Amino acid sequence: MPNPSLLILPGDGIGPEVMAEVRKVIDWFGTHKDVSFDVTEDLVGGAAYDAHGVPLHDDTMAMAQKVDAVLLGAVGGPKYDELDFSVKPERGLLRLRKEMDLFANLRPAQCFDALADFSSLKTEIVSGLDIMIVRELTSGIYFGEPRGIMDDNEGGRVGINTQRYTTSEIRRVARSAFELAKKRNNRVCSMEKANVMESGILWREEVQWVHDNEYPEVELSHMYADAGAMQLVRKPKQFDVIVTDNLFGDLLSDAAAMLTGSLGMLPSASLGAPMANGRPKAMYEPVHGSAPDIAGEGKANPIACILSFAMALRYSFDMPQHADIVEGAVEAVLAQGIRTADLLGEEGKSPVTTSEMGDAIIAALGTS
Ligand code: NAD
Ligand code: IPM
Ligand code: MN
Repeated sequence: MPNPSLLILPGDGIGPEVMAEVRKVIDWFGTHKDVSFDVTEDLVGGAAYDAHGVPLHDDTMAMAQKVDAVLLGAVGGPKYDELDFSVKPERGLLRLRKEMDLFANLRPAQCFDALADFSSLKTEIVSGLDIMIVRELTSGIYFGEPRGIMDDNEGGRVGINTQRYTTSEIRRVARSAFELAKKRNNRVCSMEKANVMESGILWREEVQWVHDNEYPEVELSHMYADAGAMQLVRKPKQFDVIVTDNLFGDLLSDAAAMLTGSLGMLPSASLGAPMANGRPKAMYEPVHGSAPDIAGEGKANPIACILSFAMALRYSFDMPQHADIVEGAVEAVLAQGIRTADLLGEEGKSPVTTSEMGDAIIAALGTS
């Protein structure tokens, strides 16, 4: 069997910093577990724009379609604020998601015991939290037509985006959510705004259809997304799997990140249809962005990116026991009180650097 292939796209800002720590974990597996990957590294986002004048080169796109999995750091930053919309760093990421057809974005929010009293919410509300947000990733208002900024014929301008969902787009992401729920606590809560949006009415009806026809054994509930946001901070442990659209999922997952203590903790997997080898098309990335406010200072928390690699081990490479080892090492390091600055708060003393956190995780792996 050839080694699994991995395309690494560190991107911008703290992307390359956190990715360097993932490379240590990958190397550790090569040395200690005889698990090797064929790794290719390339540019995305502002870094690709600087080199090629586009945020994703066609060759990189072609490579992403070929490999077993893509691992991405983060894109964007103030340096690129004035660029034309079509070449902004974020367009590179959106192109990868769209052309690979990665429709199911899994964003788990898990509260590690050692961080339960660091969350901005009360300890008892978040301790033991383990929820999974499934965000639709290739449609909705992010991609719907018509879109653009145009003259409004009254001397002003109009900015247009279109929320649009088809039956098949809703059904396939609903199936992903029900499948995940079956392996977890068997509950799905679907969130939309069926009270004000026709696309929300269709969303609710189609998720219900998939439930009734294919997954009647899974418990399904529906919630308006605004109420869902409130419930997510009021009583997050009521949820198991949440399934929602592209934009609501973006907002709800950033909010869920703070339940776990920091945006620097949250990994994600973006999955598409199975390829010829049976593996799903897949890209793994932290939920956080390029964090321009701390980029280049060695302050970034690499855990979200390292846990994203653990998700790749689980969902792309069929190595759940190795994913457990990585997650266990992260847990052990946190239990030892080792913290990057984002996990310490205002008065926090002696944070470790990005690279020290990576080294601590390698040390913890060493004993597993
Ligand atoms: P951000 O996630 O980059 O940062 C938000 C806050 O969280 C900042 O204070 C940052 O310092 C902190 N933070 C984020 N990740 C951290 C980490 N690993 N360790 C410690 N602290 C961390 O979001 P933003 O500031 O809204 O966006 C900055 C840029 O990133 C924008 O260009 C945006 O479009 C882009 N972005 C990219 C992605 C992605 O590549 N997937 C995701 C979100 C935002
Ligand atoms: C995310 C980000 C992206 C999104 C941006 C950078 C395109 O916020 O991955 O959550 O809005 O999906
Ligand atoms: Mn986001």
